[in-house]
Amino acid sequence: MSSGMKFNGLLRFWPPPVQIFQIRNIYIGNSEGGPKPKVFDKEKLKKYKDELIGKDTGKNYNYVDKVAIITGGASGIGYEFAKTLADKKLLGVVIADINVEAGETAVRTLGNNVMFVKTNVQNNSELKSCFRRVMKKYHKLDLLINNAGIYNERSVDKVLNTNVRALMYGTFYGFMYMGKHRRRHGGIIINVSSVAGIRQYAGFPLYTGASHFVVGFSRSMGTPFFYDLTGVKVFTICPGFTDTHHLKDINVLRGFDDLKSYTISTISSKMHQSPSVFGPALITVIENGRNGCTWVVENGKPAYEVSPKESTVI
Ligand SMILES: NC(=O)c1ccc[n+]([C@@H]2O[C@H](COP(=O)([O-])OP(=O)(O)OC[C@H]3O[C@@H](n4cnc5c(N)ncnc54)[C@H](O)[C@@H]3O)[C@@H](O)[C@H]2O)c1
Repeated sequence: MSSGMKFNGLLRFWPPPVQIFQIRNIYIGNSEGGPKPKVFDKEKLKKYKDELIGKDTGKNYNYVDKVAIITGGASGIGYEFAKTLADKKLLGVVIADINVEAGETAVRTLGNNVMFVKTNVQNNSELKSCFRRVMKKYHKLDLLINNAGIYNERSVDKVLNTNVRALMYGTFYGFMYMGKHRRRHGGIIINVSSVAGIRQYAGFPLYTGASHFVVGFSRSMGTPFFYDLTGVKVFTICPGFTDTHHLKDINVLRGFDDLKSYTISTISSKMHQSPSVFGPALITVIENGRNGCTWVVENGKPAYEVSPKESTVI
C-alpha cells in the first residue's frame, strides 16, 4: 500500500468526534463551563495553601468550614452521609436528589446547615445548576459525594445515565469548582460504586459493568497528574448489600429462564447491612483516604481498603 493511500485512510478519522472536545472543555473549563472563579484575597489564599500542604487533611480535617454536595442524599446510604456531615457541623451540606418529599424531610430533620436542591442527575443542566446554586450561596465547595445510583437491568439508558454519565460529569464539575487550576483550593470527591465494581454477579451484569466503570474512572482521576494540577483527591466507596430501597425491585435481563429466582436466592442469602454503617465509614475514608483509593463497606463491618492486583499508576 502506498503512503498516499495510508494518509487518505487516516483522513477518514478527521475531524475527531465533537464529544472529545466537549468532555475536554468541561474539565478544563470554558466560557460555558460555569462562572469565572473569584479572585481570593491574600489571607484566604494563605489559608487555602496551608490546607493544600496538609494541615487540613487526614485526621486534622477541619469539618466545620466545609461545604459538601451529596447526590442521592435524601435517603438510604446518601442520607447517612448527609446526617454524618450535618452532625460534624459543616458550614453547608447540600442534598441533590430527585425526591422532593424525602429531600425536604431530610432538611427538616437534619438541621439548618442542610440544604436541598431538587436535582435529577440524569439531566446534565440540572446537575450543573445545582453546583452553580451552591457556589452562589457558599462561594466554595470542598467535598462532593457522587452517590446517586440505581439498579435496573432492563433500563440500560437510565442506569448508564445515572451511574456512569452523571457520576462522570459530577466528577468533572467537582474538579472545576474545587481545582487549584481554577483558582479554587482543592478538595475531595467520593464516588460511590458497589462491591459489584470489584466482583462479578450473574444477576446484575449491567449494574456490575457500570460499577466497574466507577472504580476504574475514579482510580484514573485519582492519579498524581490530576492531584498535582488541582489539589483534588478522588476516593471510591464500594457498598455491599445494604438495607435500602436500592434492591427492592429485582429486574433481571430478559430471556434467561430462572435468572430472577437465581438472583433473588443469591441476594437473600447475603447479609443486608444497615445503612447506618456508612456514617463511620465516611469519616474513616475522609480521614484515611489516599488519592485514588477504593474502600469496601460490607457485612456491617468497618470500611477496609482494597487494592487492585495489577496496579500501575501512570
Ligand atoms: N443498597 C445496596 O445494597 C447498595 C449496594 C451497592 C451499592 N449501592 C450504591 O449506593 C448508592 C446509594 O444507594 P442506596 O442503597 O442508598 O439507594 P436508595 O435507592 O435507597 O437511595 C438512592 C437515592 O438516590 C436518589 N436518586 C435516584 N435517582 C436519582 C437521580 N436521577 N437524580 C438524583 N437523585 C437520584 C433517590 O431519590 C434516593 O434518594 C447507589 O449508587 C447504589 O448503586 C447500594
